[in-house]
Amino acid sequence: MSAHVPSLEELRALPQVQQPTYQDPAEAARAIEQLRTLPPLVFAGECDELRDKLAEVAEGRAFLLQGGDCAETFDTVTGDNVKGKLRVLLSMAVVMTYAGQVPVVKVGRIAGQYAKPRSKDTETRNGVTLPSYRGDAVNGLDFTEEARRHDPGRLLKVYNASSATLNLVRAFVKGGFADLRTIHSWNADFVRNSNVENRYEELADEIERALAFMVTCGVSDQTLSEVDFYASHEALLLDYEHAMTRIDSRSQLPYDTSGHMIWIGERTRQLDGAHVELLRHVQNPIGIKLGPTSTPEDALGLADAIDPDRIPGRITFITRMGASNVREKLPPLVKGIEASGRKVAWVCDPMHGNTFETGNGFKTRSYSDVVEELNGFFDVHDELGTWPGGMHIELTGDDVTECLGGAFELGEADLADRYQTACDPRLNRNQSLELAFMVAERLSDGRIKRPNLIDEFRNNDF
Ligand code: PEP
Ligand code: CO
Repeated sequence: MSAHVPSLEELRALPQVQQPTYQDPAEAARAIEQLRTLPPLVFAGECDELRDKLAEVAEGRAFLLQGGDCAETFDTVTGDNVKGKLRVLLSMAVVMTYAGQVPVVKVGRIAGQYAKPRSKDTETRNGVTLPSYRGDAVNGLDFTEEARRHDPGRLLKVYNASSATLNLVRAFVKGGFADLRTIHSWNADFVRNSNVENRYEELADEIERALAFMVTCGVSDQTLSEVDFYASHEALLLDYEHAMTRIDSRSQLPYDTSGHMIWIGERTRQLDGAHVELLRHVQNPIGIKLGPTSTPEDALGLADAIDPDRIPGRITFITRMGASNVREKLPPLVKGIEASGRKVAWVCDPMHGNTFETGNGFKTRSYSDVVEELNGFFDVHDELGTWPGGMHIELTGDDVTECLGGAFELGEADLADRYQTACDPRLNRNQSLELAFMVAERLSDGRIKRPNLIDEFRNNDF
């Protein structure tokens, strides 16, 4: 890889989809130029650190938990909202680390997840047709002509919202909130009286006992009070991602400083397209979504384009096949990549292949389909002897009613109660926690070969 970054003009000359159409190019150019002058949101060294952790995932020594909103929105950048998402992710991670006995790499779909690819350019309601909502980075959700106009000023708002969110995330994860001694409080206002809630409390008790033992023995370490947490989003808007790409002063290499990890979506991963061209030049760890129509040749072509030097941790394939497809569609991809000798992280997105519309007009997903896709993912990797490296999910810290099923058996009629997403339906906190227990069980049921932490502990000479 080289320090060369294609210019925005070079990128614009390449095939590209899902980009905003601004009425006034000069106004857009001003916003982009202003972004270029603003400080980076993340540092190159942090991106390298995450890439090293993802190399551990690729090697079968850690599990990736990547989750957050489908689409963040400006009006949900509040302390409570960020705290809620972090709390559910940390609770899930602790369940998977303790019950699943595997180190968990924690990455949010957070602090930058503001742009959405859409399958249709327009939306029609009661005979009125307007541009589709493309995320707060591009236009507004309200169904009015004014809101749906593509507004380049929003790119600066994305920067500010991401900056405020990341600042709070950093404060939370290093400033005591993530301290394992407060593990019970992460769960304080979860919906009570669910089976999941009780299991979490029991597990938290066990962890507390183990920690109390360690501390009594004299172990005192900042790893008990801090966690490493990273930000990720889909690198969709070329203008924004290009403006946030900077040359690292130490290595003289380019990094996209809008987030630690960025991914390329199912709709924008054309091999000759502008997204691949930009992402192949930046050093960040890169996620690549693969849907049910992906071929092994697609996956290999993308891996060769984005990671010609086979840098450990550089590529994470995020597969989103759908519950009914995963057992058939995933094996050829895994076999194709394995046969090339590449070591990549394989991560399951059990959300995007399982979306459907209910009779009463809600875009939803069934918790049971999410579980079924994850089970298929684990079974496929189990059969092939490869490591099921992680999961990528859409969730929220709130008690929303967007996905069907789960411990409270949400039905279609319940969806109207608290359906709040700006885009795809998210698991609520109980469904998320339930899923963490399910994954922990699959990781520890003896079927999957995983790092034996007890053996490693016994053999560790400290
Ligand atoms: C998403 O992750 O929100 C998304 C749009 O996914 P995909 O590109 O896999 O459809
Ligand atoms: Co989504």
